[in-house]
Amino acid sequence: MNNVIDFINTNRDRYVEELKEYLAIPSISALPEHDKDLKACAEWTAAAMGHVGLENVRLIETPGNPVVYGDWLKAENAPTILFYGHYDVQPVDPLDLWESPPFEATVREGEIYARGAADDKGQVFMHLKAVEACLRQNGRLSANIKFILEGEEEIGSTHLDNFVREHKNELAADVVVISDSPMFDRGVPSICYGLRGLTYFQIDLRGSNTDLHSGSFGGAVANPAFVLTQILTQMKDRGGRVKIPGFYDDVRPLRDEERAQFGKLPFNERRYRNELGVPKLFGERGYTTLERLWGRPTFEVNGLSSGFTDAGAKTVIPAVAMAKVSMRLVPDQEPDNIAVLFEEYLRKVTPKTVELNLTRMHGGRPWVTDFDNPFVQAAGRAIEKGFGRRPLFNREGGSIPVVATFQEVLGLPSVLFGVGLPDENAHAPNEKLDLGNFHNGIIASAVLYDEIGKS
Ligand code: BES
Ligand code: MN
Ligand code: MN
Repeated sequence: MNNVIDFINTNRDRYVEELKEYLAIPSISALPEHDKDLKACAEWTAAAMGHVGLENVRLIETPGNPVVYGDWLKAENAPTILFYGHYDVQPVDPLDLWESPPFEATVREGEIYARGAADDKGQVFMHLKAVEACLRQNGRLSANIKFILEGEEEIGSTHLDNFVREHKNELAADVVVISDSPMFDRGVPSICYGLRGLTYFQIDLRGSNTDLHSGSFGGAVANPAFVLTQILTQMKDRGGRVKIPGFYDDVRPLRDEERAQFGKLPFNERRYRNELGVPKLFGERGYTTLERLWGRPTFEVNGLSSGFTDAGAKTVIPAVAMAKVSMRLVPDQEPDNIAVLFEEYLRKVTPKTVELNLTRMHGGRPWVTDFDNPFVQAAGRAIEKGFGRRPLFNREGGSIPVVATFQEVLGLPSVLFGVGLPDENAHAPNEKLDLGNFHNGIIASAVLYDEIGKS
């Protein structure tokens, strides 16, 4: 492997220049006006796959954005890796808070800033470059590998479950590898063995058929903005516990052993609070911060709008009020069941004074796995080689919907080896990826294929 690592070290700057090109494509899946960019990004991804030496490269159409496929399957009697990642990115608003344009990748103090730098183009590109280094230097990989890169992860992987079911045979493999998460902390690489699930809704309330003068009508009708806040306050109690009946019924309690393990991780609560800039941390009573993030479900308000919000004052009773809300889920909560419980409760707590319109949006199932399989051991060795330190094991609060599907439909374990950082600003202005981690990640990925090939 030393020749491969030398090659990677020699090409360090070229990788960054190529990554900048990838990051220049505004592949925002949430916004229909970017449809052409998604297509262009899929094509760029396919070309990059061909360039590094993957074979059978093609775009596979879905009812939404295409899946980009490529493989290298010439390692006889060796395991097959299914690599998954996504080439779509989140919207960039609020644009004025970016210090450099989101689609002109800029390097500052060893970090590359752009939308998608960490989530997930930078981490996907790392694996493509690892394949390239192995194939250029050795003409082969020690393991077989199939890449599937989707363009709808940030909108809930709408069509990927069907895709996996329909292509079950072509996707046959021994292990899934994913790099789409942060590591535990700067200098503390980790392997993630659990993700939360999600279910997301938009709530629309309507009172009158138009905005009303608050003097002429105030007192005679309910105010949708006020009703909305009354509804929302009934979703959680003051101890941070969700009040939807039945919400916790399927929550798998955290084992004492796992809680003890979380407690041993090098997590500094005061530093965490300072970095977030919150006056005080808050979460479900009876649980530590890491337990709340990784092992407990939540109810959140993601957005809220109603009435007059410009400068100055306007005496008005808004006709409508809207909220976007979502719940993060843990094993064994099922998004479909939770959605029903939420809807029943919402209808119950919404007064007759307003008209309720509920829209279900995206979601995904939670996932947790044990980490005593040979692939995780292989990843441990690879990460140690790339980062000079053995990884620790963590769970994450975010969601990657397809991971549970890989487990259920293909029966495959996943190894989540992410090289982002907790302060990577994913989904926020000034998203960034540390270039040292990017580089070490290329080395670790190349070593990982080798170690999996030998296992
Ligand atoms: N890369 C993230 C998932 C993630 C975030 C994993 C943090 C581990 C830690 C992914 O791109 C993402 O943002 N997923 C969405 C899924 C949703 C749209 C269904 C999420 O978690 O909000
Ligand atoms: Mn991602
Ligand atoms: Mn994301």
